[in-house]
Amino acid sequence: MTHDRTTAPTSIVVFGGTGDLAKRKLFPAFFNLFIDEWMPVHFQIIALGRKPFDQEGFRAYVLENLKEFSRNKQFTEEQWTSFSEKITFLNFDITDENSFLHLNEKLTAFDVTCDNRANRLFYLSVAPNFIDSVSSSLKKAGMADEVKKDRIIIEKPFGYDKASAVALNQLLNQNFQEEQIYRIDHYLGKETVQNILAFRFANTVFEPLWSNRHIESVQITVAEQVGVEDRGGYYDHSGALRDMIQNHLLQILCMVAMDAPVEFESSLVRDKKAEILKTVRRIKPEDINHYTVRAQYTDGEINGKAKKAYRQEPGVDSNSNTETFVAMKFYIDNPRWQGVPFYMRTGKSMAQKKSCVIVNFKEVPNKTFVNGTDRLQRNQLTINIQPEMDIRLSFMAKKPGLDMTLNPVEMVFDYFESAPDSPEAYETLLIDALDGDSTLFMRSDQVEEAWDIIATIQEEWENGTYSPMHTYPAGSWGPEAADELLSRQGHRWL
Ligand code: BG6
Repeated sequence: MTHDRTTAPTSIVVFGGTGDLAKRKLFPAFFNLFIDEWMPVHFQIIALGRKPFDQEGFRAYVLENLKEFSRNKQFTEEQWTSFSEKITFLNFDITDENSFLHLNEKLTAFDVTCDNRANRLFYLSVAPNFIDSVSSSLKKAGMADEVKKDRIIIEKPFGYDKASAVALNQLLNQNFQEEQIYRIDHYLGKETVQNILAFRFANTVFEPLWSNRHIESVQITVAEQVGVEDRGGYYDHSGALRDMIQNHLLQILCMVAMDAPVEFESSLVRDKKAEILKTVRRIKPEDINHYTVRAQYTDGEINGKAKKAYRQEPGVDSNSNTETFVAMKFYIDNPRWQGVPFYMRTGKSMAQKKSCVIVNFKEVPNKTFVNGTDRLQRNQLTINIQPEMDIRLSFMAKKPGLDMTLNPVEMVFDYFESAPDSPEAYETLLIDALDGDSTLFMRSDQVEEAWDIIATIQEEWENGTYSPMHTYPAGSWGPEAADELLSRQGHRWL
């Protein structure tokens, strides 16, 4: 996370090189790192796929995608030409041993040009059922045997439930050392999410307030305006609990709630995160309805455009019982957080795209400025993750004038003002992986704990009887039941 330009020559291999992730995120990220001079001087990218591209055709396809998806669209022809020379496309069949032999030849040929065995970064952007065969084939061909040089990045979903995640971890651990495995959660690469730790642990003024002594509740919202678009087939077997809560929202929770590591070092940071996940209170099946709300969007309107219901989306079962919205309440059973509710909500086809953390402080204990039944607005700290990227602290201040009237004001730190062109999450994570820094990646125990937290909910929602499926119109903020989840405790979504 603190590096100079990565220097070791590296072969990057993208399994799923013609897929959506490679097109929208990976190639744009590598390209931006290249033009900002973060990539090693000597590298190659081998994209593996089954579409019938020749070299020129594949490079033209990458260029087209960069023009659409790259953060930096003002690049020169010269920059593109030097980058494109690093790209090779290999028509590849994951199930065919010969494909791996051919890949091995390309890797060895590159090593020869480096006069040394180059580092290797294998990006597995493939369906979960292929991870087994890819990792075993890599092992069998001896292509990723140098523990200090070879790394494997695994995209989500990392398993389908706890049992499958444990099995996947065992399988990966048979083929590679844990330090070679990089389980990616792109939320951890977002500037605003990383900054939560800097904000908390590099300042003296906030951390002493960061506990149940001063904090009343915490809210984490990741709302999306998009629906499931063309991902209905995948999403209908996943749902918001698996797709968002198990990973992105629980990772944000870790950043907000973890204790300070002694040093900003990978295993120490990850120990603290794992500790928090262990102390999140597990919800009993009979309490699921009290702690969680699930819902599915019906038809509605978003930005003045009609939006069809989830069950009518392509690839979705017309009787689907998959949730597109989740709201829930967690408690963390440790001395710092005992009794503080952490509310989370996430959904598709909602009123607005908005990801944020809101920390609600307790009421002022003294009554100095409380007039009759008037209440002072509580202090609130808002960490806007996206699309706004800022930190806002609201507090009460005297309104200018002759009398002592108070009103709430805000102090704001805006990222766009200080860094209008900050890197994308994938850029940060890829450079960390190239550098062998796994601080922002998930360790096996973290992933398993996160699945464990939602295990009873998954089971109950699939087989049980306690929890109804609510609905909400597309373009709204979710079902009323989500408001009731908070109002029972005198709280409301902010
Ligand atoms: C992905 C989910 O992990 O994150 C998607 O699978 C979701 O369903 C996406 O839309 C949200 O990411 P971002 O960065 O757009 O907030």
